[in-house]
Formats: sequence, structure tokens, C-alpha cells
Amino acid sequence: MVKAAVLGASGGIGQPLSLLFAVSGLVDELSLYDVVNTPGVGADLSHINGKAKVTAYLPPNDGLQKTLEGCDIVVIPAGIPRKPGMSRDDLFKINAGIVRDLVTGVAKYCPKAFLLIISNPVNSTVPIAAEVLKQHNVFDPTRLFGVTSLDVVRASTFVAAVVGGSPTEYTVPVIGGHSGETIVPLLSQVSPKVDIPEDQLDALVNRIQFGGDEVVKAKDGLGSATLSMAYAGFKFAKSLIEAAGGKSGIVEPTYVYLSGVPGGEEVKEAVGGLDFFAVPVELGPNGAVKATNPLPQVTDYEKSLLKKCYEGLEGNIKKGVEFITAQG
Ligand code: NAD
Ligand code: LMR
Repeated sequence: MVKAAVLGASGGIGQPLSLLFAVSGLVDELSLYDVVNTPGVGADLSHINGKAKVTAYLPPNDGLQKTLEGCDIVVIPAGIPRKPGMSRDDLFKINAGIVRDLVTGVAKYCPKAFLLIISNPVNSTVPIAAEVLKQHNVFDPTRLFGVTSLDVVRASTFVAAVVGGSPTEYTVPVIGGHSGETIVPLLSQVSPKVDIPEDQLDALVNRIQFGGDEVVKAKDGLGSATLSMAYAGFKFAKSLIEAAGGKSGIVEPTYVYLSGVPGGEEVKEAVGGLDFFAVPVELGPNGAVKATNPLPQVTDYEKSLLKKCYEGLEGNIKKGVEFITAQG
């Protein structure tokens, strides 16, 4: 029996993400939670003739508790999205408190669930989640994941647009964090190997780093990526569920607490002591099994990208940690 919950299920990401869970055949119960509209979204999804039983809750009458009890996997896309001109960090003021409160529910009602954080700014909301779980003495770093899959999905699409072929052919390691210059694509390590013309390299890297802005601009005030995010988020959740079910050899990029994941200490040392960093992580029955370290092979060009990444991430991580520790 697998129970999954989506917190923020009525939103632009929450609805298509819940749809993908409902039709996946991977979950027995899908539990939806939001501060608005979950009865409608739940009624709608419950008519799908899939195996998942759909339950839906609002905050009153212990809605969060009922959503989370018995959960194996919890995905959080709750919170406000960007408008043109905003950075992801501009979302911190509102989303930090939303993530704190929802993760408090996870700590109380399903502390062993895999926890996937989509809400921005991911660079800070994942440290917030870790601190909340620590405060409740239930932090297991192998079960907490910042979802950075959209960067990888975009990277393979944009690489194919430059070198030709199908995007699905290319696996592009994208490491670091999830915002602007903290997103570092390692184009020297694309598999299969690609030759990016030198005069197109900067533009390609910039497109991967700022791909989110393209969508924010095109939506013109109506939000940010939702459909591609639902796809990328579900892809990651599916990998986790399959790995938990015994499938071996699954590797997904994700933003993790390095010290608690096997192999993570080596990465931590290579990234100047940062506590959180996205790298390709092997998944297994209990979540993160091994963080891989692509840093020894990076080019000088990538080293210069990484320098800016480290500077940005350090402040983002500190801001998230202090948001919780300052509250005592
Ligand atoms: P949205 O506004 O369409 O949906 C957010 C939902 O969260 C709404 O239904 C809202 O009612 C709900 N919500 C707000 N407070 C809540 C609470 N306390 N408890 C439960 N639900 C609550 O926004 P969206 O487009 O779905 O984006 C959601 C978040 O995901 C944003 O922060 C956005 O920046 C982020 N995002 C992350 C990535 C990524 O790659 N990690 C990609 C795209 C978007
Ligand atoms: C994205 O990368 O699309 C998301 O982080 C949303 C955003 O604000 O760009």
C-alpha cells in the first residue's frame, strides 16, 4: 500500500501533479490538501477509474493530520509563484512560513515519509524543512529532497535545441541550487557526449539557469511553470516510489543535506562546506543511497560558474536555517 499526499493540491502545479499521481497506478491512496478548493479537485479526480482512492481535505477538522497520517510520500508545491520582475528569493517572505507549517505537520503525522519540496525558493525552503524536522527529532536526510528535476528536464530540451536530436537522448547533470546562477549545468559531462559550439555556450548556460524566467515572462503575471513542473516533479516522485519498491540503479538529481547522505561528505568538501547542494543521487528502498560527486571532472569554465553558485547558495541556506533557529 502506497499513500501519497500533495500539499497545495489545488494550485497550478498541484492539480496536474495530482492528476499524474492519480493515473500512475503507483499509489493506492492519493490525499489532497490545500487551503482552498480541494473538495472540488478531489471529487473531479475521484471519477478517474484508476486504482488510487482519492481523499481531499481543507484545514478545518484536522484536515492536515488526516491528509498526512499513513503517508509514504509527501510532495509540497504550496505557496505563491513569481510574477515578472520577481526573484525566487522574493517569495521567501510568504512561502517560508507556509513550508514551515506544512513540514511541522509532516514531522508530527508521518515523520518517516519521503518529503519532496517544490515550493520556492527551494535553496532556502529545504533548509527550513530540515530545521523543522530537526526540532522534532525526526530529521532523516536520506528522506528529504529539494526538487530540482525541472532544471534537468529543461537542460536536456535546450541542449537538443542546440545540437539536434531528441531531448530524451541526453542526460545533463545540473548541480548546485534552484535559482539563476546557483543552477550549474555541467555540459562537459552530458551523456552521450555533445559538442556545444563555443559561441553558443554562454547562451545555452544562461537559458538553463534562467529557463524559469522565460515561463514567468510568457505567463505575464499569471504565475510560473506549472505543467512542466508537474511533469518533472512526478518524474522524481515516480523514481523514488520505484526505488523504494526495489528497482535498482535509479539516479535522480536532487538538492539534499550533504552530511546525512552517503557520499555527501565528499561533495560537501568539494563545494566549500555548503550543507545543501544538488547532485545526481542514487535512490534505494530508504531514499537517498549515494550522492555522486561530479566535481573532480569539471572544466575551468564550469569552475567559474560554480564560484558564483557557492556565493549565492551560502546566503540562501543561511537565510532558511535562521528563519527557524531564530524562532527557537
Ligand atoms: P499556485 O498559486 O498556482 O498554487 C499554490 C497553491 O498553494 C494554491 O492552491 C494555494 O491555495 C496553496 N497554498 C497556499 N498556502 C497554503 C497552505 N498553507 N497550505 C496548503 N496549501 C497552500 O502556485 P504554483 O504555480 O502551483 O507554484 C507553487 C510553488 O511552486 C511556488 O512557490 C513556485 O515558485 C514553486 N515552483 C517550484 C518549481 C521548482 O522547480 N522547484 C517550479 C515551479 C514552481
Ligand atoms: C521554475 O524554475 O520554473 C520555477 O522555479 C518557478 C520560477 O519561479 O521560475
